[in-house]
Amino acid sequence: MKKSLKWWQTSQVYQIYPKSFLDTTGSGTGDLNGITARLDYLKTLGVGAVWMTPVYPSPMVDNGYDIADYTAIDPSYGTMEDMERLIAEAKKRGIRIVMDLVYNHSSDQHPWFLASKKDRTNPKADWYVWRDAKPDGSAPTNWRSIFGGSAWTWCEERQQYYLHTFAPQQPDLNWANPDVRQALYDAANFWLDKGVGGFRIDAIVYIKKPEFKDGQPDSNDGLVDIHAMEANTTGILDYLHEFKENVFDGHDIFTVGEANGVPAEDLDKWVGDNGVFDMLFEFSHMDVQFLGGAEVWCHAKPWPLTALKKALTASQTATANNGWYPIFFENHDQPRCINHFLPEGADRDLAAKGMATVLMTLRGTPFIYEGQEIGMANVAWGSIECYNDLSSHNQYRRALAEGHTEAAALHSVHRFSRDNARTPMQWTRGTHSGFTTGLPWLPVEHDRTYTVENEAENADSVLSYYRRLAKQRAEIECLTAGDYTELLTADESIYAFRRTLGAEATVTLVNFTAETASYDADLVRGMNRLVDSYPTDAQADEEPGILRPFEAVVYTTVATLAQPFQEQ
Ligand code: NOJ
Repeated sequence: MKKSLKWWQTSQVYQIYPKSFLDTTGSGTGDLNGITARLDYLKTLGVGAVWMTPVYPSPMVDNGYDIADYTAIDPSYGTMEDMERLIAEAKKRGIRIVMDLVYNHSSDQHPWFLASKKDRTNPKADWYVWRDAKPDGSAPTNWRSIFGGSAWTWCEERQQYYLHTFAPQQPDLNWANPDVRQALYDAANFWLDKGVGGFRIDAIVYIKKPEFKDGQPDSNDGLVDIHAMEANTTGILDYLHEFKENVFDGHDIFTVGEANGVPAEDLDKWVGDNGVFDMLFEFSHMDVQFLGGAEVWCHAKPWPLTALKKALTASQTATANNGWYPIFFENHDQPRCINHFLPEGADRDLAAKGMATVLMTLRGTPFIYEGQEIGMANVAWGSIECYNDLSSHNQYRRALAEGHTEAAALHSVHRFSRDNARTPMQWTRGTHSGFTTGLPWLPVEHDRTYTVENEAENADSVLSYYRRLAKQRAEIECLTAGDYTELLTADESIYAFRRTLGAEATVTLVNFTAETASYDADLVRGMNRLVDSYPTDAQADEEPGILRPFEAVVYTTVATLAQPFQEQ
């Protein structure tokens, strides 16, 4: 039974944080030419598209998510010619470049905002969300921005408040104004004309504003989380359909919306034949530590593996017939997955391979975040001053305000800081892991064992394991097109699932604990073992029905695949 899938459903997407990928000038920050220089490396991971976080001109208050010009390149990343060369070189290798569209807000240094804030009558006066103060001079509502503090900032010049869902330097655009919408569509079409292969659309659930009224405070600061007030407001889909018609339709691209909190019953309105995007990033599986609450780092709770399995199975089920699932365990906003999902003290290689096994064998498109494929880990710096990420500073302040000690506040930053994922990519055994010849903008994570150079030489490394899985995903159709069923095992410490396509099947089994775990050997009877995360010399010990600590295995009915790993 053949199912026809699109190019972006059968390859991997690799996410690059350009500032931390590869510096070719010695400036200490990565650049576009650094990405072009590593395209051949990406091919060995079966990558069909590279999603780059924003490379537009920006004051970098939020590392590029505060955009000052939607149709240019920030000089720290290179030039428009560098961008054109990147797109062309990538295309030659069958890789498409995917841009990040940050359309809920711009930078406060964008010429649109600089004009808008001057007075209430200028031609751009209505391009942002302005409101009068309450009679007592306070903010129009008691909403707390996602980066902490009031979501409203007072503008002396205009004598009004403006809304910012994120930082004060990221004012929200007014999507209710058709001129704003048209300007944003024009910018996206500018990149389509340059030949980009798709878009990741940032924070899209916030573009439609609700009625501005106070909510029930959820903390001792008297404010309420803006997400609870503003996300997915009725009418948002009208904007999104217009966006799709004016930009996405008629192009061989993919789109993935960052859409936290879209309820499962609404999914068919967002993705699939009647939806707007091809895929949605939702975070139910990433938020296992925050179930039932906002992502306040000092509120993180222990979580059972069943919570992760439940969230993944729910997403797999919801996208079985609607749209397509973007599988991810890391991105530039999240801790490293081995720290996020595996217990402290877990063997680093096995932890990384276990997560790789789930990522590459679930149904959907795997998104590999830079460094994930070599098992990069979290950092734990000695003081909050060492952190660049603005949300780390906000979360730290909030923890102190809630009465946590400095040590506890710092511990929560160690666990969840976005800088965990932003340390430079580790290429070589050399100085700064070969990321730069200058001084890196963030320190390199300390363990120099986990570098591309080391791992490429070792058939048992995390990198070799990813390459092997990529090869198998390209060869076994069931791994891309097959249906998903969760398998229940007596031992809850195992995550097990089957993929099936006609007579073809695979079974994935991953032990998330340091204890030996057992499962019913009948689940894999008569199948061939496709991969095992243990080193080659320990694989003879493998016994169906038993998983050793943190072991991951994949079985298949396909006969031809017991082939040795080969460098691609
Ligand atoms: C989500 C992005 O992934 C994050 O990095 C950014 O800070 C916010 N949106 C605001 O644009």
